Amino acid sequence: MKILAILGSPRRGGNSEILLDKALEGVKSLGLEPEKIVLNELKFAGCQECGGCDKTGRCIVNDDMQMIYKKLDEAEAVVLASPIFFGSLPAQVKAMIDRYQCIWVAKYVLEKKNPAPLKKGFLILVSAGSRGSFFKNAESIVRNFFAVLGAELKESFCCPNVDKKARVLEHPNCLEKAFELGKKIPRYFP
Ligand SMILES: Cc1cc2nc3c(=O)[nH]c(=O)nc-3n(C[C@H](O)[C@H](O)[C@H](O)COP(=O)(O)O)c2cc1C
Repeated sequence: MKILAILGSPRRGGNSEILLDKALEGVKSLGLEPEKIVLNELKFAGCQECGGCDKTGRCIVNDDMQMIYKKLDEAEAVVLASPIFFGSLPAQVKAMIDRYQCIWVAKYVLEKKNPAPLKKGFLILVSAGSRGSFFKNAESIVRNFFAVLGAELKESFCCPNVDKKARVLEHPNCLEKAFELGKKIPRYFP
């Protein structure tokens, strides 16, 4: 089973990464080998709205997004972990999402059928505060993104009230939730 984990936070060793790694521990405890990518360490721009994908549904911008398209295309399950930034998602995550405009074009304008089965999507969010509207907003954006890439959001949870780096280590319930989320992923594959 191909499981791709995406770290949306630029802060290595921060709250999102700790929870993402916990979820991956859960996955690995079942003998699976997930792959992890760190968006902030890749080089890609946001969508240029150049129209280069209009006729093919393929992005013509040659940067690290080409690798992300391939990995996400091949993945059967996707786990995204991200902090809330300004009530939404960090620029790194939003830039990746916007670059899926080519896939939106392929799907809804060119009506290209994707024969691949629906992927399973999982989301972990963290934030300093606890505003439910921020989580809802971020989750709604991710749900849309997942729909475009052909994934259904199966599970998500938010860990509020974590600001300082690694503060989430003081929230054992969040660590446990992340581990359990990871362990549950294979159950979605009959
Ligand atoms: C640019 C920026 C914007 C932020 N905006 C919010 C916000 O709107 N609401 C909130 O509760 N926390 C906000 N935070 C705090 C982060 O969500 C919080 O520190 C989180 O734990 C960071 O996760 P990380 O360690 O995985 O990067 C913001 C932090 C930064 C750096």
